[in-house]
Parts: sequence; structure tokens; C-alpha cells
Amino acid sequence: MKKILDVISEEVKKAFAEAGYDEALGRVTISNRPDLCEYQCNGAMAGAKQYHKAPIMIANDVAEKLQNSAVFSEVSAVAPGFLNMKIKEAFLIDYLIQMQESDKFGLENPGQNKKIIIDYGGPNVAKPLHVGHLRSAIIGESIKRICRYAGAEVIGDIHLGDWGLQMGLIVYELSLRQPDLPYFDESFEGEYPQEAPFTISELEEIYPTASGKSKEDPAYKEKAMEATFKLQSGVRGYRALWKHILNVSVTDLKKNYANLNVDFDLWKGESDVHDIIPGMVQYMKDGGYAHESEGALVVDVVEETDTKEIPPCMILKSDGASLYNTTDLATIKERMETMNPDAILYVVDKRQDLYFEQVFRCARKTKLVKPETELKFLGFGTMNGKDGKPFKTRTGGVMRLEYLLQEVYDEMLRKISENKSMPEEEAAAIAKVVALSAVKYGDLSNQASKDYIFDIDRFTSSEGNTGVYLLYTMVRIKSILNKYKEAGGKVESCKLAATANESAKDLIKQLTAFNTMMENAYVELAPHKVCAYIYELANAFNHFYHETKILTEENEEMKSAYIALLALTISVMETCIDVLGFDAPERM
Ligand code: ARG
Repeated sequence: MKKILDVISEEVKKAFAEAGYDEALGRVTISNRPDLCEYQCNGAMAGAKQYHKAPIMIANDVAEKLQNSAVFSEVSAVAPGFLNMKIKEAFLIDYLIQMQESDKFGLENPGQNKKIIIDYGGPNVAKPLHVGHLRSAIIGESIKRICRYAGAEVIGDIHLGDWGLQMGLIVYELSLRQPDLPYFDESFEGEYPQEAPFTISELEEIYPTASGKSKEDPAYKEKAMEATFKLQSGVRGYRALWKHILNVSVTDLKKNYANLNVDFDLWKGESDVHDIIPGMVQYMKDGGYAHESEGALVVDVVEETDTKEIPPCMILKSDGASLYNTTDLATIKERMETMNPDAILYVVDKRQDLYFEQVFRCARKTKLVKPETELKFLGFGTMNGKDGKPFKTRTGGVMRLEYLLQEVYDEMLRKISENKSMPEEEAAAIAKVVALSAVKYGDLSNQASKDYIFDIDRFTSSEGNTGVYLLYTMVRIKSILNKYKEAGGKVESCKLAATANESAKDLIKQLTAFNTMMENAYVELAPHKVCAYIYELANAFNHFYHETKILTEENEEMKSAYIALLALTISVMETCIDVLGFDAPERM
């Protein structure tokens, strides 16, 4: 379905042509003076030079041609040469009816025939999720859903950090604590136990302990590195133990991500490309891309136009060990070979931007990707506390994700129970849904690349630009629709119709912008556009609601038009929150 501004522009272009001017001048935009008009066209100003005429004369000519337009209720030429337009409600309603009858409210699958891999989440095995992982999960999930809604084939991959020194640290620490385990017995040839020799909480204690020790004791670190090396080179017992670490940790991660309403299509990790690294290294050497530098193997990635220094991309360290880069490059190779995507998007902390610049350049230079393959880094800013510094616990530590979510949940439950008396269980279920919207909307409503302040009081408020406000609005709409049904009304048979109600018209206008907004959100990979849209939509609805008798409207046709408008509004809102990654409760 054509976007509404295109339809309106066509009408004005036709008028420019009829008046003897270039039709390209007829491009219409939404008015930046809503007090004066709804839409505007500045084409007459742009055409003045070309036609050696005062802009107002051109504007007058065009306005005259539009006097009987089916689209506009009012077109005026205003000095020095603007065209100000008001639109006919009947035209908007026609558009809305088409939208209602079209798939996806008239969005024309801008992502069709595209295959996109989204690399997000990126947690590290055996380390608890902390707030630093929150943004990647929330933003990545929303971008995945937006791309999918836009008709693209999307594969979300968690890309676990499951292969580095942290694994060696755990293995070594375990070998000190439980030296009698068969995993450490090199002569052991039997089957290793099915059960892991630790629980998730033990694991979560082992890692920081080991990491602390390695920082203080170089000999300890040396041993941990040795264990990492043994693990990576395939020592049987170490691999078996590592599998246990992975299983226990992934089970826990799955639970945590499920609580966030985040899910991945692929649970692959750095370790999955271990076996293809030697082949890739050989390929880079054979192709003349990689060379030795101070014992290490590197690929130069500087470009003539660089204004800042871009260091070479290191492929192997001098001891032959692979690095974070190496696994990312090998993962690109593997993704190209097995899935052949059109684009790979990385949703990662923006402090890694130079790193990804190196990786992308290296992947292009070494032809791991096709020239047309898009590699895109979507760096997000830091989540700060109210003091403007990176979010910390009260005692200054890194906050575990679970605790953070618990705090928001507690606050939400308190607010909900304060507001309304309802069974405890129901209050808890509602608080869970609403708390997630508070956290996600608080994050997504900011442009991803910017830092933002995590403010529980503000995020859980039912007023202002918050997820909670949106959900309250949705619940309000649902409740009106339910009352209508209870009184015997049939929502499905309600028809959209012109109402001559100004606040209804504003709501209608906002609804007609849906496909335009969603296309932009997809093209720019920008969930905050969906947030801005749905916030405006909620405002338009609430304004309408306060100005209008809906259920008590006596004119049945009018009432039916209102109900149809509400039904469409709620479906659009539901679609929006779904791509943002949260749900609305039935009541709250
Ligand atoms: N595990 C990494 C970290 O915690 C993030 C992974 C990002 N994704 C990637 N393909 N490198 O910093």
C-alpha cells in the first residue's frame, strides 16, 4: 500500500502539472505548524527561480487547481509562497479502511528477500548476566522483530563467549578443589559422569574467585592459560568438563533470557568455529593477506582515507593462540558458508566500535564476505545511574541483571497493589509483564547509540513517556471494547466512518502514519522510532477519549465508527509493542 504522504503528494503533483509547472515540485510534508495546517508543500518557493515568477503566484495557481480535490478540505496559498493544506476526513477514512484490509496495515515488506543475521546478547559462559548485557538483549531482540515484521528472513545468534581464558580459569580452579575428578586423570579411559560436578551457583562463585586469584598471582594465571590451551587443543577430560560448564550455564542463560522475552534461533558460540580457524589462517597466509609482525600474524587494515589510526587486525598471537578477532572472523566465514546472509548486524557496546571496524575491514580485504554483503555495527551507549555514571549497585559493584529486574518488579508490584486491590497472584503476574515493559521501553525509547539514565521511578510511572503509560492506555482501550461487547455489541461489525470529531481525526492521522513509520524503523534499524510513534498514538487516543463520549454516544453509527477506530488502534499498538518485545496485560 502506498504511504499516505505519497498519495497526498501525487494529488499535489498533479495540480502542479495542470497549472503548467514541474510536477516534481509537488512534494508534500507533514506541517511543521500544526496550528495553521496539517500538511504543507514548499514547491512554489523552489520553483520561483525556474519560472521567473513570485512564489505566491505559483502557489495561487496550484491552490486553484486543488479547490475541488477529493483529498483536501482546504488548500491555501500563503505568503511568501507556501501551500497550506487541511485534509478531508473522508479521504483519511478511505485510507484507513484500506490499511485495515491490508496485510500488516499496509506495510509493503521492505525487507523481502533479505537474509539477515543478528549477533546479539553475547553473554559469557559461567559469568552471571549483568546490566551490561541488558541493552544488547533488549535492542537486538527488537531489531530482530522489526526486521522480521518487515518481511526479512532473520536469524538471531547469541554468540556465546565460551572459549576464552575464563574457561581455563574455571577448569584450573576446579582441578585444585576437586583433584580426584576423573577429568584430571590423564590415564582415565572410561565414560565421564553425566552429572556436572558443580551447580550454577557454585559456578558463579568459582569464576570470580579464579579470576581474582589470577590477577594477583602470575603463577596461577600461567596455569589457567595452560588449562585454556589444553582445553582448546582437545584434551579429552578438559573438553568433557567444559561441556558441563557450558550445559549448566546455558540452562541458566535460557531461563534468564526467557524472563526478558528474548529468544535466539542459534545458540552458537566462539568455540563452534575453533575447528575452522587453522584453515582460515592458512587461507589468509596463502592469499598474501596476512604477514608476520613481531612474531604475531596480522592483516593490515589501514586505508588511505583514515583520519585516525586503525591498528592491524591480529589473527594469531606470537604463541599461536587465537584471539577474540580470530573467532569473530571465523564466525563470519562460517556464517557466509552455511547461511550466506545479505547482512550481518552486531548489537554490541559502542566501545567496541574500533574493534569491529578492524574485523569488518579484515573480512572484506580477505574476501571472507562478498562485496555486497553488509556488515553493520550497531553500537549502543552506556546505561547510567541517576548520578550520570555507569549503573552500579548501591555498594558500587556490577549489578546482576536478575537483581535489577527484581527491583523494578518490586516497585511495579508496589505501585499496582497501591492502586487497586486484586488477588495477590494476579497482581504478581501483572507486575511481571508491566515491569518488563518499563525496562524495555525505558531503554528502547532512546536512540540506541546514546547513553541513557536508568531511573526506576520514572520508568515505572504511569505518566509521561513510559512503557507503563502505554500499557495503561492499551488496557483502557481493551476495557472499553469489552464493555461494548458485554452490552451485546459486535466489534467486528463496526465500520470506520467519518465522525467530524477533531480529536478522532488526529487519532486517525496518527494511525495512517503506521506503514511509513515501520518502514523507517526497519531501514534505520531504529526501535526508538516505533516508541515515538506509539507514544504519539497513545496521546492522540487519550486526547480523543477525554473529549468524546464513546459508549454513551447515542448515534449508533457514530458509536460504531468510534468502536471501529478503537479496535484498529489497539491492534496497531499491539503490533508495536510486539516488535518492541513486550506484552500488555488484560487489566492493571
Ligand atoms: N562476549 C562479548 C563481550 O562480553 C560480546 C560479544 C559480541 N559479539 C561478537 N560477535 N563479538 O564483550
